[in-house]
Amino acid sequence: MAIEKVGIVGCGLMGSGIAQVSAAAGFSTVVREVSPELVDKGLAGIEKNLARLVQKGTLSDQQGREIRGRLKGTTVLEDLKNADLVIEAIVEQLPAKRELFGALDRLCPEKTIFASNTSSLTITEISTATRRPQRFVGLHFFNPVPVMKLVEVVKTIATDPAVYEEVVAFGTRLGKTAVRANDSTGFIVNRLLVPYLLDAIRALEEGVGSVEDIDKGMQLGCNHPMGPLTLTDFVGLDTTCYIANIMFEEFKEKRFAPPPLLKRMVQAGLYGRKSGRGFYDYTDPKNPRSIKLM
Ligand code: CAA
Ligand code: NAD
Repeated sequence: MAIEKVGIVGCGLMGSGIAQVSAAAGFSTVVREVSPELVDKGLAGIEKNLARLVQKGTLSDQQGREIRGRLKGTTVLEDLKNADLVIEAIVEQLPAKRELFGALDRLCPEKTIFASNTSSLTITEISTATRRPQRFVGLHFFNPVPVMKLVEVVKTIATDPAVYEEVVAFGTRLGKTAVRANDSTGFIVNRLLVPYLLDAIRALEEGVGSVEDIDKGMQLGCNHPMGPLTLTDFVGLDTTCYIANIMFEEFKEKRFAPPPLLKRMVQAGLYGRKSGRGFYDYTDPKNPRSIKLM
């Protein structure tokens, strides 16, 4: 079966990026959010990215128009029923993902392939909310999706090998390099990245250095594009905290446990760049200022 039509659920940080690269790669793409305001917000972010690419000459006017023409936003889940592949990018919580996939399973024909962009839940535990675990994979993109070159394609014990290869080929058609991962919590990248981000927060809690110095240390000392606290703001502190809780629950190892400071910041509504405040204040986005946290 050739994938031509793509459905995406969630048009936040990740869903909007996935929708953009899907439409840019030539797929007819429908993206669903929970309210018209959130549909508009997600599509406005994509529009801003496309306008910049046209302005820079990376895309022609005509290509920009064609991409917009292939992209539709909706609040109606039924609008995804003709998709060949549905990619979920909603909040990192198992009950929400299982409820959504149960509804999609009732709505979509048997042939539709389902994929989750989860960071830390296992694909197996999400897929059992449907009657099609053999047509279920993980498709884990990286933030910001239009820029990051990697996608992890995840198979479970139940995934049909032919379906898996089709999704690997889809990832390649999006212009990404696909790596193959088994269905272990955090897959490859987050297994290694998440303890590092959490350790940076613990270093801050323990007074090893200031927010700026911890970030500068890793940026300039290891040539990382962003320091770990800036990166946590970028990922979202709420999402990072969900991920840490899920990984700790799975492995019961301290390195995956959410540090108290992360929990307090999430409770206080400091979600990072997306809410305007995290380890830094983004009132002036070009000049973020660290926040006094302790
Ligand atoms: N959306 C689309 N394009 C974006 C973007 C966004 N949100 N942010 C930056 N870009 C584009 C810019 O337009 C620019 O494009 P051109 O080169 O064509 O002009 C390019 O990216 C570089 O941007 P900047 O010059 O503004 O800034 P930069 O050089 O610092 O790069 C960055 C920005 C690409 C985000 C870089 O800082 C970086 O790679 N950071 C690390 C990102 C990372 O580690 N992501 C993984 C997060 S973990 C994850 O995703 C998994 C999980 O499950 C949590
Ligand atoms: P986000 O909070 O930016 O966006 C999630 C969006 O999903 C919200 O806009 C919300 O309104 C919407 N949503 C919730 N339930 C919905 C439903 N039933 N139907 C339609 N929309 C719904 O979160 P995000 O950072 O985009 O993360 C989404 C998923 O991607 C999570 O599973 C996360 O772990 C994963 N992920 C995140 C990153 C990252 O760096 N933030 C990277 C890779 C993977």
